[in-house]
Amino acid sequence: MKFIVGVSGGIAIYKVVDLVRRFKKRGDEVRVVMTDSATKFVTPELFREISLEPVMTTVFNNEETAAHIKWAQWCDAMIIAPATANVIGKLAAGIADDALTTVAIAMTKPLIIAPAMNKDMFNSAAVTANLSILKQRGVNIIKPSSGELACGVEGVGRLPEPVEIVEQVDKILNADKRLSGYKILVTAGGTREAIDPVRYIGNRSSGKMGYAIAKIAAEYGAEVILVTSSSLEVPPNVKCINVESAEQMRQAVLSEYETVSVVIMAAAVADYRVAEPSKQKIKKSEDTLTLELVKNPDILLELGQRKQKQILIGFAAETQTVEANAIKKLKKKNLDMIVANDVTSEGAGFGVDTNIVTLITSNGATPYPKMSKTEVAEVILNELLSFLLDTPHG
Ligand code: CTP
Repeated sequence: MKFIVGVSGGIAIYKVVDLVRRFKKRGDEVRVVMTDSATKFVTPELFREISLEPVMTTVFNNEETAAHIKWAQWCDAMIIAPATANVIGKLAAGIADDALTTVAIAMTKPLIIAPAMNKDMFNSAAVTANLSILKQRGVNIIKPSSGELACGVEGVGRLPEPVEIVEQVDKILNADKRLSGYKILVTAGGTREAIDPVRYIGNRSSGKMGYAIAKIAAEYGAEVILVTSSSLEVPPNVKCINVESAEQMRQAVLSEYETVSVVIMAAAVADYRVAEPSKQKIKKSEDTLTLELVKNPDILLELGQRKQKQILIGFAAETQTVEANAIKKLKKKNLDMIVANDVTSEGAGFGVDTNIVTLITSNGATPYPKMSKTEVAEVILNELLSFLLDTPHG
């Protein structure tokens, strides 16, 4: 492996000297880029001697031109350790004003950061918000450990031991990418059908199941598009398209349909919409109010009719004769798999973090016990993988 180790100015630098040595010892190639403050703690010569490679401390006066771009392209991953509050802030804001941040912003390979600082700094609102921005962008964060800090107090903020950092880096880089090369569209949430400019007809779906699928699919290396009417936090490396109504969801899904290998419809699409939503807020006048509803398009049915090479997975939220109803939907909508659940059972369905599902394919039904929605997502995606391996859907 080829690593760039970005070193910023923290007392934990002494551990990074050992980190570089460990990478070298097992045969990795390592180039070090240092911030100005890092050079106040140790000299670039030390890292040059250990890495046997040039050390970059400035974007100017390097032997190569545009060295920051060439370095970023050369490596398989960049690890910033220790990552100070200042560097984390710069990365989150997209500031590139020195060698380290300029290489980091040019990275197209995995970026891993190991924050290390005083516990109050680490827990500050600014560092917390900046780390969450970076996480959202797909940056891997190695959690600092707890213990005695350089400032003498106890708490979280220590740079983990070099051997642990090496272990974590390997884990991150070898993470299972079994869905890499596949583009997957996932829908989530309950659609909202306008009654007037302030009111809508909705349903109890939270979107959690669809978001869990999108998250795991992205972790497995798929290119993921999430079409959602819910406003939960978008998982890292997921492209999100926000919609409200069934018709908007249909448009968004159809516009991507040709380009995807898989569609997973976890959304609770409203079957009916108000025939003519009022342009003005409806005033309360009469004792009763009648709304005329018309049928919405069935998105999944349409996808099934237009299916070419795509794998289609639907959900069947039922309250009775779950399996029989789900099998009917599987056939009618021309699906490859349907995930059936009884939304009336405790720990299944809307709003909760767990689900109790049965996966149904043309080969039969497999019931699962109560699991977290993340585990359900893993089960669905593993079953999907067997379809993808059977037929080259690329
Ligand atoms: N679905 C859809 N468009 C609709 C309704 C449903 O794409 N207008 C999708 C859902 O996202 C789900 C599957 O079809 O993946 C089954 O949804 P469900 O509401 O259980 O079934 P319906 O076909 O609507 O049948 P019913 O409501 O009568 O049970």
